[in-house]
Amino acid sequence: MIHTRICDLLGIRHPIVLGGMGTATTAPLVAAVSNAGGFGTLGTSAFNAATLDSEIDAIRERTEQPFGINHLLFQIQADMFAVTLRARPTVAAFAWARKDQKLREYFQPAHDNGCKVMHMAGEVAEARRAAEAGADVIVAQGTEAGGHVGWMASLPLVPMMVKAVAPLPVLLAGGIADGRGLAAALALGADGVLLGTRFMATAEAPIHPNFKQAIVKSDGHDTVLTEIPDLASQRVWPGAMSRAQRNQFIESWAGREWALRQHAGEIGKQVAAARAAGDVDNASLSFGQDAGLIDSIKSVKEVIQDIVVEAEEIIKIRLPSLLRSA
Ligand SMILES: Cc1cc2nc3c(=O)[nH]c(=O)nc-3n(C[C@H](O)[C@H](O)[C@H](O)COP(=O)(O)O)c2cc1C
Repeated sequence: MIHTRICDLLGIRHPIVLGGMGTATTAPLVAAVSNAGGFGTLGTSAFNAATLDSEIDAIRERTEQPFGINHLLFQIQADMFAVTLRARPTVAAFAWARKDQKLREYFQPAHDNGCKVMHMAGEVAEARRAAEAGADVIVAQGTEAGGHVGWMASLPLVPMMVKAVAPLPVLLAGGIADGRGLAAALALGADGVLLGTRFMATAEAPIHPNFKQAIVKSDGHDTVLTEIPDLASQRVWPGAMSRAQRNQFIESWAGREWALRQHAGEIGKQVAAARAAGDVDNASLSFGQDAGLIDSIKSVKEVIQDIVVEAEEIIKIRLPSLLRSA
């Protein structure tokens, strides 16, 4: 069995974490990941304080295993953060702070309420800032990832971050969908992986079945870094682009962002309606390049088992078979 420091720190069997994702993580998915020996995390941006509270209850009804709650710092709301602190999850996870926000103002209350602090960063300087503010785990997010991302690919980013924040454990996020990815992440010095896209294409994920099929059908070459989804939703992220499928919605506004800004209110409503209807052409579909590695919808348990078995085989059989005595 693959066992790393993150397993001890979070009290989990496998070093595999579900990234908290705005509209794509609800109690059944979070609990399924934790019950399968990974670490489930709930994203909070689709909730308000009351619905977040009941979603946390729903996780606890489904699992006694550890889980985390994720907040996007640039838009964190005091009442929702208070719900997280009261719930005392194993991990308070954060991402996307504005540069003028003081991370310790969020990390310290999390620690005071018995949580470990996980912070996701796409740049070494941000990882260092989080380490200095007291984070317990750093997530190195490469630009291959789905959702909002920076510019650095995980292959160079992870070793740089591991060195910069040592001895803190680092998780690799972005592009991981199978055991090859986990083995590679460990080789780069990470203590585990954090996945979004692979868990979206599971039976337990709360997204429309058409969106799951869009991930399965994607060859991974059809995503693009764009501001178009954020212009439509009128939410400005601090320094992030969104990795989304280059579908009809993106194509129709590319190069006409100024016009989108003019009509954002109306277009935002159309995109939300398309999402609810499972309209893959006119909704904004965020997923990572690793969609090219995903060719079926599985259960969460299968995803985790398959990753672990494949990574173990690589480490035990393939890699040692390459060694020759000089
Ligand atoms: C639809 C979607 C929504 C996301 N929402 C969040 C979020 O609310 N907070 C966060 O920290 N990360 C969010 N992420 C990023 C994930 O935490 C993670 O970094 C990413 O999915 C990893 O790359 P992968 O998709 O290739 O596995 C989101 C990703 C996706 C695809």
